[in-house]
Amino acid sequence: MAKKKVVLAYSGGLDTSVMLKWIQEQYESDVISVTLDVGQGKDMEAIEEKAWKLGVLNHYSIDAKEEFVSGYVVPAIKANALYMDTYPVSSSLSRPLIASKLVEVAEKEGAQAVAHRCTGKGNDQVRFDITIKSLNQDLEVIAPVREWNMTRDKEIEWAKEHGVPVPVTADSPYSVDQNLWGRSIECGVLEHPDVEPPSEVYEWTAPIEETPDEPEYVTIGFEEGAPTSLNGVKMSTLELIEKVQIIAGKHGVGRIDHMEDRIVGLKSREVYEAPAATVILKAHADLEKMVLTRHEKLFKRHVDHEWAVLTYTGLWMDPLKEALDAFIDKTQERVMGEVKLKLFKGNAQVVGRSSPFSLYDLSLATYDIDTTFDQKAAVGFIELWGLPTVTAWTLKKKAKAAPLLHA
Ligand code: ARG
Repeated sequence: MAKKKVVLAYSGGLDTSVMLKWIQEQYESDVISVTLDVGQGKDMEAIEEKAWKLGVLNHYSIDAKEEFVSGYVVPAIKANALYMDTYPVSSSLSRPLIASKLVEVAEKEGAQAVAHRCTGKGNDQVRFDITIKSLNQDLEVIAPVREWNMTRDKEIEWAKEHGVPVPVTADSPYSVDQNLWGRSIECGVLEHPDVEPPSEVYEWTAPIEETPDEPEYVTIGFEEGAPTSLNGVKMSTLELIEKVQIIAGKHGVGRIDHMEDRIVGLKSREVYEAPAATVILKAHADLEKMVLTRHEKLFKRHVDHEWAVLTYTGLWMDPLKEALDAFIDKTQERVMGEVKLKLFKGNAQVVGRSSPFSLYDLSLATYDIDTTFDQKAAVGFIELWGLPTVTAWTLKKKAKAAPLLHA
């Protein structure tokens, strides 16, 4: 009988390498490995070579950076996506993309199952499983880490016994997940929320103590909500993100340390570096304030919040997200223009903005005598606007003066 085929999301790290062998041996299956480049900055060729050495039936190296940007990061920018007002959902965004590629490969290869390295405590398992199941109900999802109960030491021992190369860096106490939208660092001393993250956890951002003593300005141009120019030079959003990442990181912008509510009910302390996301999201949100009406803005806040929660909680595939995207895309038609930011000592401060769709009208807003705003109209407006409040207080005063009979 032919062996079962399992498609594995393979990063080239120790965990997924052990998993590769584990699936071959424990599940007596053939493994097809898939590695996506979502801008994590790893050597794709070295990863592929490692996979072949571990005896895969086939391997797929997929450069998914452009697709990640256009299909996932840009929608997140348009939605001002920050989970709990803080985390730019960087890891959350990559999961549905990786999952959809696993399904694509599984269907092409006629595999019966797909496998990922998520633990049973995290958010990522939820995102992978729901996306995979939505796209193909017949595929089995295997997550050995949820079952194998190996400590780090046991895993290294198992690796050595089964010919899995153990990298010298295997003793890093941290679990890192990174892509072009952000970098997440977990585990080790970071599990103690009262302890400041040691500087060694940061790789993309300079410590404030070492940032330049001169501020640096960047101007980000947007077209229909997507960033498309930097300092007046048009470029792809991918290139722009890569450039801003470096500039903002140099100024120590984008370190995030917060308490996060996970999908599975736990609270966890999460540390991120997201220099480009921090700058771009700030710029985008500022531009929206200039071009959207007050009513659009107030309503969009709720939509944006829902969008971030759906994305974080693994419901990228839910039809609600598609419906929210339709609303958001409509609002973005006028999100055009430029936002200037000042980067200095860990801060990204918006210092200017302009747009052909600006609703700001100087002749209305100016305090100069020469204004088109009719100040006399304010009197009647205030009377009606405040009517419910003033009415309530009139009653309250009366009640105080003449207490109710039965009181
Ligand atoms: N807390 C983040 C999320 O749920 C990051 C998860 C992955 N991080 C990691 N270091 N393995 O989206």
